[in-house]
Amino acid sequence: MLDLAGVFVSYGNIEALKGVSLSVEQGAIVALVGANGAGKSTTLMSISGIEPLQSGSVTFEGKAISGLPTHEIVKRGISQVPEGRRIFPGMTVRENLEMGAFLKGKKDLVHKLGRVYELFPTLSERRKQLGGTLSGGEQQMLAIGRALMSEPRLLLLDEPSLGLAPIIVSKIFKIVKEINEQGITVLLVEQNAKAALRLARNAYVMETGKIVMHGESSALEKDPGIKKAYLGE
Ligand SMILES: Nc1ncnc2c1ncn2[C@@H]1O[C@H](COP(=O)(O)OP(=O)(O)OP(=O)(O)O)[C@@H](O)[C@H]1O
Ligand SMILES: [Mg+2]
Repeated sequence: MLDLAGVFVSYGNIEALKGVSLSVEQGAIVALVGANGAGKSTTLMSISGIEPLQSGSVTFEGKAISGLPTHEIVKRGISQVPEGRRIFPGMTVRENLEMGAFLKGKKDLVHKLGRVYELFPTLSERRKQLGGTLSGGEQQMLAIGRALMSEPRLLLLDEPSLGLAPIIVSKIFKIVKEINEQGITVLLVEQNAKAALRLARNAYVMETGKIVMHGESSALEKDPGIKKAYLGE
């Protein structure tokens, strides 16, 4: 469904991605794990068109999307939940969600809101509450809900567990699984490698702008190097 081939991205003279290649199969949850500064967020931003590629290519459903503006990439079916949620604090929950549907107009808005409220009953109860007054976990749910409002076929999730208590993390991960079961493919970036490997079928490990290992999550979980570096064992 998604293929990155030899992707290079730089910030000035800092090479953030040095030839990243990865594939996401339709229907899968794929994890991308790695330490701080490895280039995980940059990888997602190279897919969603936020950061331009210096070279390499991004192909989605058989068509090259590298070089397209972000709004066009959203229209083609890719939606990103940014690191740190980035919800609109001064807008209500409902208004935040409506922003996610902005590119697709008002058509079916009530239906789409209904689907998000079904996944996140908490958001339904708080639909008139300002985004900035939500708890961290609720803000993460709102950020995911907002991304779903554009009805993506591929969801890019950047560190959904960041700063959340373990019990909230498992709740969020359960919902990610549910979203995937509804037919949405997921590329999940996580520093919480343990939780990510448990959820994903396949995983990629990134270090300083390169993919250093990939395979089935169950195999990576047993790898001594991975255990030591990422699973705290
Ligand atoms: N806007 C920017 N300007 C300059 N350098 C940047 C910028 N954004 C990221 N970088 C650099 O690019 C590299 C990759 O950063 P990136 O944010 O993609 O890593 P990450 O794996 O998402 O890290 P984290 O786990 O901390 O979120 C880092 O060395 C970072 O300092
Ligand atoms: Mg990041």
